[in-house]
Amino acid sequence: MTDYALLNSQADALLRDEPDALANAANFVALLYNALDDVNWLGIYVLRGDELVLGPFQGQPACVHIAIGSGVCGAAAATQETQCIPDVHAFPGHIVCDAASRSELVVPLIVNESLVGVLDIDSPSLERFSADDQAGIEKLCGTYCRLRSGGRDAISLD
Ligand code: SME
Repeated sequence: MTDYALLNSQADALLRDEPDALANAANFVALLYNALDDVNWLGIYVLRGDELVLGPFQGQPACVHIAIGSGVCGAAAATQETQCIPDVHAFPGHIVCDAASRSELVVPLIVNESLVGVLDIDSPSLERFSADDQAGIEKLCGTYCRLRSGGRDAISLD
């Protein structure tokens, strides 16, 4: 079981003094990917105009453009609600990037009340993400977004 309280304080320490949004996104993703067990892909899709575009990630190369409403990521962006999918094969419209993925958690990233992207986590195991994982990862995303909101580049990763 991941120690989400510890991970949250590590994320806070890692991001707090760095205002660069791209660097913080890259470090946030690397921290989580290395801290979470049984994960084969973890990254951020950034909202650009009316679509999601691949941002910093760890794992296999992935699809670059995702329309709002498409797949699990697009559903999280459209609803601005976390999507916790125990079996991706049972999710209508799931977009396959890494064929090894079996379950997925996607958390919307909201800075200053605006959607800026989503955090996408894939696991090769069915039902990898429990309610505790969801709550812990949502809190981490809250920390990331809160620290980013004071940065010099709060909205885009340009
Ligand atoms: N499975 C996602 C696409 C992104 S990859 O998993 C990295 C989806 O259905 O939106």
